Parts: sequence; structure tokens; C-alpha cells
Amino acid sequence: MKISIKSLNDIEKMKVAGKLAAEVLDMITPYVIPGISTGKLDKLCYEHIVNVQNAIPANIGYKGYEKTICSSINQVICHGIPNNNKILKNGDILNIDVTVIKDGWHGDTSKMFLVGKCAPHNERLIRVTQECLYKGIEVVKPGAYLGDIGHAIQKHAMENHYSVVEDYCGHGIGKVYHEEPQVLHYGKAGTGIEIKEGMCFTIEPMINQGTKYCKTLNDGWTVVTKDGRNSAQWEHTIAVLKNGVEILTKRNEEFA
Ligand code: MF3
Ligand code: CO
Ligand code: CO
Repeated sequence: MKISIKSLNDIEKMKVAGKLAAEVLDMITPYVIPGISTGKLDKLCYEHIVNVQNAIPANIGYKGYEKTICSSINQVICHGIPNNNKILKNGDILNIDVTVIKDGWHGDTSKMFLVGKCAPHNERLIRVTQECLYKGIEVVKPGAYLGDIGHAIQKHAMENHYSVVEDYCGHGIGKVYHEEPQVLHYGKAGTGIEIKEGMCFTIEPMINQGTKYCKTLNDGWTVVTKDGRNSAQWEHTIAVLKNGVEILTKRNEEFA
């Protein structure tokens, strides 16, 4: 399959979907406190998407997944399944990842939350991982290479003595949730596919305090660090424009 190139008109529709996905994270933020269950957070997101946004939660039914969000706590790297019995506790770090379909187009985004008062090492992991995302986004423009993104992310992670998860990557996105190209969060500058105007893809680095190695739990979804140390992830959906890049999933806190 070839990489799809979106028209300006297509990108306008991606903007709408992206904005809605970001709004779900804005909406859920005040609820992320010690004592709430990830199942409850999932229910709130589902109801917001379906009843307020008149949109579709893309994760439901995706390869048999049954929930609206992925909720990944502490050593969970990604794809944590919300559960009414999983209660957030003071000091946890949490990623909520959500994808919304509006008018046939997808917006995919995630952010990290500090639950209550967190240890400085966790705050640092979350901050550096967000910096990795922004450093990856910064290099995107027509004529750059996908390897430039991976290189920028990996360099910043390594300088901070973290590791980059290699088993999962960003992805092209549009009318299809996961399409070409794969966007690796590690690599060599100037290598890989050349970035072109009209491409839309996600950048979603998963950064570990310990080693890069992962394992999947028996539920078939939950991905955890092999060494049990914590992991963080941030994700944006972006569009490549003539003069650079536009983030389609900016939250309120990201507008200057
Ligand atoms: N949103 C995730 C991503 O960034 C994929 C979640 S798939 C699910 O690509 F089925 F686990 F929800
Ligand atoms: Co994604
Ligand atoms: Co996602």
C-alpha cells in the first residue's frame, strides 16, 4: 500500500477529528484524581464522544478491543485496559490514549497525568517524554525524512538516560486508523521515507526509565516494561503542510 496524501480539504476534516480527540483529554483531566477507577474514566470518555461530540470511539471493536480509551499506569507502556476495579492511587502516573472518528476521519492523541503528588523521578520522565514528542514534531517538514524524527526523539531520550520502546511506533492516519507509514521513535537522521506535503501521521514516543524491552500480559493487550520500571507516552496527530507541520490534536493547555 502507498502512503495516502491528503488534500487541504481532507486536512480540514482531520482538524475537526483531531480537535475532538484533544477535547476528550481536556474534558477528562479534572476527573483524574486518586480514588477514581479507569473504568469510570473510560465511561466518561465514551459518553462525551457519543452524546456530546456525536462522534465514534475508534478503539471500540478495533481488533476486538472493547473500550474507548487505553489507560496505562506506571510500568504499563501502552494498551492498558480500563477496569472498574482498577483504582488510581496517589503517586501513579497514567497515560490516556483516545481516538475519535468524525465524518469518517480519525484523530488520535494521548497525554500523561500525574495522579495526586508524584515522585520527582516520575515528573521528570513525563516531562522528558513530552519534550521527545515536541522534538520529533519540530523536525517535520516537506523534504525531511522519517529517520529525522526517530533520531531527534532517541537523542533526547538517551541524553536523559532513558530508553525508547522499539516494538510500537507512530503511524499514518486518515480515513484508516493505522495506515502507512510506520513512524519509528528511533533511527538515523536522513534515512527512511521522505516526508511530503499532505501526509498525516502520529508521533507517539514511549520512553522507559529502564530498558526498552516489553512484554504483553495474558489479556492479550496490556504491554508492560520487562524490568517493571515506569514508562511514559505522549501522542499527537500531525499534518505536513507546505511550510512545515500542524498539530491537529492540540489541547487547551498547548495554545499559547
Ligand atoms: N491509540 C493507539 C495508538 O496510538 C492504539 C490503540 S488500539 C486499542 O495507535 F485497540 F488498543 F485501543
Ligand atoms: Co496512534
Ligand atoms: Co493513540
